[in-house]
Amino acid sequence: MKELLATVKQNIEIAKGIWAITLTLPESVGKIRGGQFANLSVGDSSFPLKRPLGICGVNGDDIMLCYQLKGDGTHRIAEKKVGDKLSVLLPLGNGFDLGSAENIAVIGGGVGIFPLAAVIQEHSAGRNFYSYIGFRGKEYACLTEEFKAGGKLTVATDDGSIGYHGNAVQAFLADYKDGAYDLIISCGPPVMLRALKSALKERGINVKCLVSLEERMGCGIGACLVCACKKSDGHNARVCKDGPVFEIGEVEL
Ligand SMILES: Cc1cc2nc3c(=O)[nH]c(=O)nc-3n(C[C@H](O)[C@H](O)[C@H](O)COP(=O)(O)OP(=O)(O)OC[C@H]3O[C@@H](n4cnc5c(N)ncnc54)[C@H](O)[C@@H]3O)c2cc1C
Ligand code: FES
Repeated sequence: MKELLATVKQNIEIAKGIWAITLTLPESVGKIRGGQFANLSVGDSSFPLKRPLGICGVNGDDIMLCYQLKGDGTHRIAEKKVGDKLSVLLPLGNGFDLGSAENIAVIGGGVGIFPLAAVIQEHSAGRNFYSYIGFRGKEYACLTEEFKAGGKLTVATDDGSIGYHGNAVQAFLADYKDGAYDLIISCGPPVMLRALKSALKERGINVKCLVSLEERMGCGIGACLVCACKKSDGHNARVCKDGPVFEIGEVEL
């Protein structure tokens, strides 16, 4: 993990309220695993906390982060121009370990699709990905080509404006066949991950499932405990350092 002063190479809106920023790092940070994240400075001293964003794509020393405009921090980041400098701490967290899985279901909702896109980019050879990505409506849909590059893609929208009418978990369940997958990976809002956990239990789907959690963060490196989550064994875990990826049964959602 390194803290670097990166240069903005591109910063554009790719869907309604969703931006992609490409940063050129001044030096290599070594291998980045899909599911790891970066802590990006807002570039303004009145915002002391960096913002955690999943690493969405890697190309040499360029990294792409995608972000939804939310509060003041992400709006400030959207104002950055080509050539501006931003401090960034990366790579953080554990990322997805796919092991020897060959047939992988990918279930992503909202901003949760961004780290999943990096997993597909990292493992584009030798594995089959069956992706289910959900958006509120067609104006929010993005990165579909990146997911298609990994295999089969099903887009779901809450309003039915494109693709499957429903959410990503419902789209996955509608297609599900026993024996089709040896791993499920997922990232999305807590409500989506809870729905996935109950559906797997109710349908008796016994496939290993890894989920990436989103928690409010402070330091991003395991020191402040702001990001603590409850594990099923009663202990706490730090989402930034022990996660953000956990087995679905390991954590309380
Ligand atoms: C591991 C991880 C990966 C993430 N990846 C992405 C991503 O790829 N794209 C994306 O759009 N968003 C992602 N998020 C959420 C993103 O960090 C928040 O949307 C962002 O920090 C909001 O900042 P803000 O200043 O605009 O909003 P504000 O609400 O003004 O933020 C105030 C403070 O709360 C924190 N905060 C607010 N919402 C969240 C949240 N959901 N998670 C964590 N901290 C939050 C901010 O970092 C900031 O310190 C991720 C969060 C985590 C924990
Ligand atoms: S954000 Fe500080 S310990 Fe996780």
